[in-house]
Amino acid sequence: MGGSWPPTLGPAPNTSQLRGALQARQKRVPLAYVLGEVEFLGIPIRVRPGVFIPRVDTETLILTVQTYITKRTRVLRVADIGTGTGCLAIALALHYPRARLWAIDRSPMAVRTARENTARYRLESRVWVLRGDLLQAFRPHTLDLVVTNPPYIPTSHLPTLPPEVQQEPKEALDGGPDGLSVIRPLLQQALDALVPGGWLFMEIAPPVRDRVIHTAKRFGYRLVAMEKDLGWIDRVLVLRTPS
Ligand SMILES: C[S@@+](CC[C@H](N)C(=O)[O-])C[C@H]1O[C@@H](n2cnc3c(N)ncnc32)[C@H](O)[C@@H]1O
Repeated sequence: MGGSWPPTLGPAPNTSQLRGALQARQKRVPLAYVLGEVEFLGIPIRVRPGVFIPRVDTETLILTVQTYITKRTRVLRVADIGTGTGCLAIALALHYPRARLWAIDRSPMAVRTARENTARYRLESRVWVLRGDLLQAFRPHTLDLVVTNPPYIPTSHLPTLPPEVQQEPKEALDGGPDGLSVIRPLLQQALDALVPGGWLFMEIAPPVRDRVIHTAKRFGYRLVAMEKDLGWIDRVLVLRTPS
């Protein structure tokens, strides 16, 4: 497939397209990159090499937000930090018609892809995709809610990941020596950017769970819940800033 995009596998691919797809899989190119699309909570989302592939585990993050934040909530100001394909921002925008969202990523390829996905669902008037570093662009107390699936894998674990995962962008996975290199400044910046009593929903994994909780409490957050994914693994941390 030679990295071509949009994907060349249509509903009825020809022989050479199929051969290209098979060759890509033999090189352990992730299937999502071969197909150019994944479903996130039933929403088709385009994805291309250089952009993190949305995972089923991350759907728990949206289901958790839906548990705590009612649809009737007044206008919600939301930031999705490290948006990747834009899957979280899009799922939230479709569920909360009164929400306005900022989808931020440092990667130009992610920003381009998230913009394409946002346009596909005609959400450009409520979802703004911007290139940026964490929450640096936000003024104090301007957000009600932050969602994030940050890079949290300790650097030393990266070589143990399956070959497919190693073809995803390193900056989407690499959490630094202890897994918290991105999470620590994110927690710090969210304290300022969120209103008092604001919500932070963060995907994590068991190897970093205790360190993240400890750091969040030290910064003054209130731990509301730790929700499990469908595999019964601790996955989503629910935090609130002091009121
Ligand atoms: C694990 S991926 C999550 C993508 C998407 N939210 C999802 O759940 O499928 C993490 C994303 O964070 C982005 N990222 C890493 N460091 C960042 C930073 N300092 N500021 C903004 N985005 C960053 C990466 O480029 C990547 O797209």
